[in-house]
Amino acid sequence: MTNTVFPALAFEPDAQAAWSCPSNIALVKYWGKKAGAVQWPANASISWALGDLRAQTRLSYRKGIQPGSLEFFLDGQRKESFEPKIKDFFQRVYKDDSCSLALREAIDGGSFRIDSTNNFPHGTGIASSAAGFGALALCLADLQQQWDINRPLQMDLASRWARLGSGSACRSLYGAPTIWGLHPNVADSSDDYAVPHTGAVASSLQGWKDCVLIVDAGEKSVSSTQGHALLDRNAYAHVRFEQAQENLSQLLVAFEKGDVSTFMEVVESEALQLHAMMMVSKPSFILMRPGTLAIIEAIRAFRSETGAQVCFTLDAGANVHMLFSPVDENRIVNNLLPSLLLHCQDKQYLCTALDRGPEPLKL
Ligand code: PMV
Repeated sequence: MTNTVFPALAFEPDAQAAWSCPSNIALVKYWGKKAGAVQWPANASISWALGDLRAQTRLSYRKGIQPGSLEFFLDGQRKESFEPKIKDFFQRVYKDDSCSLALREAIDGGSFRIDSTNNFPHGTGIASSAAGFGALALCLADLQQQWDINRPLQMDLASRWARLGSGSACRSLYGAPTIWGLHPNVADSSDDYAVPHTGAVASSLQGWKDCVLIVDAGEKSVSSTQGHALLDRNAYAHVRFEQAQENLSQLLVAFEKGDVSTFMEVVESEALQLHAMMMVSKPSFILMRPGTLAIIEAIRAFRSETGAQVCFTLDAGANVHMLFSPVDENRIVNNLLPSLLLHCQDKQYLCTALDRGPEPLKL
């Protein structure tokens, strides 16, 4: 258990849970939803945990007090603007078949207070929803388990609930590479929740790190909700979804064989496809900034000059995730990183390991 500091409460809760959960970065992207259920992905995706970029969340429950009320505090400050989204999330969990009677009674008959904090700075353009909904789903699954001694805490349940908050959050539940979405080559894959990759990962693809280069610390110009919806009427969407399935197959083989070149090629292609889909949407969006392109070109030039194992991926924004092997860490950090920072807003960047999953927190 990790120690943490949450603000003292002015009341004695009837039940409490606290979890720390990482954000994650997709190697094969989820971009586009399938009809049928809340946040089912159009294709399977795979991610690594951004192990050191985490949300820490405590959920406190009081029975019979102001039934149905919910308060959300971020870094000790009440954030009422977040509350409608979290209430919707609680209602989605409530309606899910896997929600126990005890948890439904608690949602109907009591009040919840959520205290959350991120260990990465605000205003860096890093989405906190995956870590935040991952941690909150874990807290709810923890309460459900506390009220039902026959039901051990299940990560797949927490993953399923995290998905109801934000699709990609369901991949934040494991330290191993994590797969979400039905895929013929992944036996236990599901659209409902993510599963850890249980196949082999050769040593050359273990221990990789990510430096997130903050090109633009502002809000995203297109929200994920809008972005996913644009795929519904994008002429290239079905080709994209097929390519993603194929890219995941290739990545799994690359993991097994330790084929770093294929890994880097697939990961970069995925990032560019995500952005390409936005460029051919109606309306169209260019999410890269000049600094994004400059960094991509510098990473590729450094790789071809030195043979270093380094590649990039992107989220639906301008920031660049530079992924690199530990064997090349020194030369990347000393000889490449400083020149990339010239393209970053206030030279901001965050580096993280990619293999640390959720952890329970001391109350
Ligand atoms: O979880 P959402 O709805 O915010 O979607 C996130 C999608 C991407 O981050 C762009 C890609 C991914 O697979 O994480």
